[in-house]
Amino acid sequence: MKVLMTGGAGFIGSNTAAAVLDAGHDVIVLDNYCNSDPGVIERIEQVGGRPIVDIRCDVTDREEVRRVFREHKVDAVVHFAGLKAVGESVQQPVRYYRNNLDGILTMLEVMAEFGVKRFVFSSSATVYGGDNQVPFTEEMPLGECTNPYGWTKRMGEQILRDAAAADPELSVVLLRYFNPVGGHESGLLGEHPNGVPNNLMPYIVQVAQGKREKLSVFGDDYDTPDGTGVRDYIHVTDLAKGHVAALEYTLDHTGVEVVNLGTGHGVSVLELVQAFEKATGCTVPYEIAPRRAGDIAQCYAKVDKAQKVLNWRADKTVEEMCRDSWNGRNTKAGQ
Ligand code: NAD
Ligand code: UD1
Repeated sequence: MKVLMTGGAGFIGSNTAAAVLDAGHDVIVLDNYCNSDPGVIERIEQVGGRPIVDIRCDVTDREEVRRVFREHKVDAVVHFAGLKAVGESVQQPVRYYRNNLDGILTMLEVMAEFGVKRFVFSSSATVYGGDNQVPFTEEMPLGECTNPYGWTKRMGEQILRDAAAADPELSVVLLRYFNPVGGHESGLLGEHPNGVPNNLMPYIVQVAQGKREKLSVFGDDYDTPDGTGVRDYIHVTDLAKGHVAALEYTLDHTGVEVVNLGTGHGVSVLELVQAFEKATGCTVPYEIAPRRAGDIAQCYAKVDKAQKVLNWRADKTVEEMCRDSWNGRNTKAGQ
């Protein structure tokens, strides 16, 4: 298969590109590098052992996207391209809706024009909202999102469902990621958010590096075993393999399939800090801080469907997630 990966230069995209190459498929990365570094292309090729096609292009630029489809025989699309900073989405909602939804619409229009029928979408566990009981299952009614970023995922899913309902040949897999962390074991494809990290693992890495003084643990009074927030951290290499399974699934299925990509295990903030210290030998000073607005106590996946439908499950341990997050600290995948 020749797989077009929008946003393929980013954290999850670059690791997935390596996995897709490893599975014997060809890769085209389409990225505008608004949150990544073109240098990652060489590292994907190094890890994947083969050259890829890379195209600097905005996924909302329909003429440019049409040109890509004219010049390359695309068999399937994995759509990672999107803005993902929750706080920024509250400040700049229109930019988020424009970028994240226009990207999907443009891609669907051009795919229809060129007869491409396979689409894998980066959705998020954020679509479950805060009112559901853990573990989150794909059949649950979705809750209210607390921010525009979350709504772009929820609306994106709806657009894709409607498109698939109207075109019986379309095959769409909506992958709801839980909390991706880690990096390629080579250390070449890591996570490097711009500015102050919002997410826990990159923040821990920067504290361990001495770039930040200490971690603020957002709340120790949740209804969880140690009072801190519980999440389903998943190694990005496992997540990447989930995309390969989803792509292969689209070869002989049509319609929409929603699949959680998580481990099914909840890990608290303090447990992650301890695991990180154990895996790396670093110390991570922390203090307990007030709860962060919009956070929920617990979020973890029911993963039976991924096993059943995609024949995939996550294998890597929390220690491996910590070790590979640490190994990737010096090479940029994002900026
Ligand atoms: P990332 O920022 O590292 O990667 C996204 C890539 O998309 C970047 O390389 C960026 O330059 C590119 N991009 C953004 N807008 C674009 C546009 N208009 N045209 C072309 N390229 C564009 O993020 P990531 O962590 O790799 O996330 C990938 C996808 O998965 C995103 O859609 C994100 O919302 C989703 N997701 C991420 C997480 C997470 O925790 N990282 C969780 C759930 C869902
Ligand atoms: C966050 C986003 C979610 C998004 C996901 C992936 C919010 C409210 N949610 O999810 O929409 O899909 O990232 O990008 O922003 N924590 C600390 N200290 C920190 C950072 C985090 O204690 O400095 C805690 C949080 O309170 C939470 C856990 O660590 O309990 C994980 O946080 P984070 O990595 O930001 O992920 P989510 O909140 O699950």
